[in-house]
Amino acid sequence: MTIRKTATTRVPVHPLLAERWSPRGFDIQHEVGADQLTALLEAARWAPSANNSQPWRFVVTHRGTAEFDHLTDLLAPGNRVWAANAGALILVAAQLVDDNGQPLRFALYDTGQAVAHLITQAQAEGLATHQMGGFDTAGVSDFMGLGTDVTPVVVVAVGQFDDAAELAEPLATRERAPRSRRPLDDLVLPLDASVRQVA
Ligand SMILES: Cc1cc2nc3c(=O)[nH]c(=O)nc-3n(C[C@H](O)[C@H](O)[C@H](O)COP(=O)(O)O)c2cc1C
Repeated sequence: MTIRKTATTRVPVHPLLAERWSPRGFDIQHEVGADQLTALLEAARWAPSANNSQPWRFVVTHRGTAEFDHLTDLLAPGNRVWAANAGALILVAAQLVDDNGQPLRFALYDTGQAVAHLITQAQAEGLATHQMGGFDTAGVSDFMGLGTDVTPVVVVAVGQFDDAAELAEPLATRERAPRSRRPLDDLVLPLDASVRQVA
């Protein structure tokens, strides 16, 4: 048995997008294959970016290593309890300036887009992902030796979804709750309201 949280959409969207969701139940026995992880990183690598600047950076840690344990310790307590069971934790960071020290204005935008590629590839591989912004950014930066030009953005838990994983409340209830989104009409602004009227 698995939990399905298929997105409700006006018209069909690709199943990789409709079926993806962010679980907290991960199978602690499961190891993410090396080729699968490489596929995730390749998908991210080929994301578009402003001026092809590719500001995304990744640090991959595997469950069962000291690095994974240390990164887990730097997660917010509410994330630590379940993310420790994931097969891998990927720190995603963004390079904020180019080689000439000029700010990369779209660095965070581009990095988010690379993560969108990564999690969609994971879905295609049959892997679950759950992004986390709740972590000690200064601690991670220090631990990873990122310096001032590279900022930590998210940690992505990657692994195999486990429907039977034990979760304390309120996470157990959230795990089974349907996904929700604002209606499309809230997001697509009517043209007459968004265009400045010219006399
Ligand atoms: C930048 C970012 C930060 C997030 N931080 C956390 C987090 O710290 N803990 C957590 O449980 N989920 C976190 N999430 C997951 C979101 O809550 C989740 O993606 C959202 O509720 C939509 O659910 P879905 O991914 O299942 O569609 C984060 C997601 C993103 C994109």
